[in-house]
Amino acid sequence: MNPDLARLQPYPFERLRQLCLGVSPAPTFREIRLSIGEPQHATPILIQQALAEHLAGLAQYPNTQGTRGVREAIGQWIARRYAVPLLDVETQVLPVNGSREALFAFAQTVIDRTRPQAKVVCPNPFYQIYEGAALLAGAEPIYLNTLPENGFAMDWTALAESVWRDVQLVYVCSPANPTGNVMTLESWRALFALADRHDFVIASDECYSEIYSDENAPPLGALTAAKQLGRDDYRHLVVFSSLSKRSNVPGLRSGFVAGDAEVLKKFLLYRTYHGGAMNPAVQAASIAAWNDEAHVQDNRRRYAEKFAAVTPLIARHLPCTIPDAGFYLWAKTPIADTEFARQLLQQKNVAVLPGSYLGRVADGINPGENFIRLALVTSLEDCIEAAHRINDFCLSL
Ligand SMILES: Cc1ncc(COP(=O)(O)O)c(C=O)c1O
Repeated sequence: MNPDLARLQPYPFERLRQLCLGVSPAPTFREIRLSIGEPQHATPILIQQALAEHLAGLAQYPNTQGTRGVREAIGQWIARRYAVPLLDVETQVLPVNGSREALFAFAQTVIDRTRPQAKVVCPNPFYQIYEGAALLAGAEPIYLNTLPENGFAMDWTALAESVWRDVQLVYVCSPANPTGNVMTLESWRALFALADRHDFVIASDECYSEIYSDENAPPLGALTAAKQLGRDDYRHLVVFSSLSKRSNVPGLRSGFVAGDAEVLKKFLLYRTYHGGAMNPAVQAASIAAWNDEAHVQDNRRRYAEKFAAVTPLIARHLPCTIPDAGFYLWAKTPIADTEFARQLLQQKNVAVLPGSYLGRVADGINPGENFIRLALVTSLEDCIEAAHRINDFCLSL
């Protein structure tokens, strides 16, 4: 067997399950789950209809590159959303089966095992796929702590030049899971300069980009940043996006990658062998989804309502602020995050994710320790009810 499989860590939800073995939640309360970041707003009918109307496509093998139609819909969405000229949809855009598989497969494409000590930088705490992808590509993950004292931003100066020399791939997550931080233009400028100097590729995970509070201030995307910095060819950059959160279709498995044409040519080659073609009915549903913004605005409004109602309640006892974007509250706990999560489940039947499960020890600390992640995915009423129960629990500590 592949020995690198033994280097994979148990997934955070498996660790949560283990933590809560033997816990019997108080029967007086019904369960409210804020632990998993699975969107629960309804899937728009227009997407369901498009899917149903194109089931005849199941009779054909899809092409890995996707139809020109789906690439054009994605390309036009990118141009509208990111205020960039239309990308070349033959070379700079590819549909993928959700961003998760693409983020994983990307490391397998990019990492050159013949170069010694291949390194992959990722934020800490982070979405666990980055680490697994790096390990199975034979690279060493380098964890860059994102800390409250600098607003959870990535501090590129924290890594020594000797480390950057071996870096082949950098994962960034903006808006970040779990902290909600959005990268600034200045941070992009610094990262692009490093990518040019050390010849690495940037994978920009933007799957939360469409969940934000101010309709007039969407989060800065990497493609916009590149354009504003005069990088019209998007060299060294590939953006990963998804319909899962934007359009409430986590089961559809649909997203895209876009950016550096040379890198994407290799990624398409990899995907042809790996088997990354998108189901034709899913391609049709994706076109319908990318072409419609009304449902996305409605979705955003619902999250904004939840953040406005819940954040002040939670912040009474657990310091936290409304994130730049995304649907998580990242809240500080007065006791160990694992103990907090376990006791909260036991006493109030509210499930949250211990922050330490999303982090690794780097520079002597696990920056997720003493934080919990609350996914505001359930209804407004349940989010408010959970916040009240959390407050009662905190008063009892
Ligand atoms: C940061 C981040 N990236 C990527 C994904 C994958 O999303 P999908 O595969 O549904 O596009 C998730 C899912 O929760 C996530 O939190």
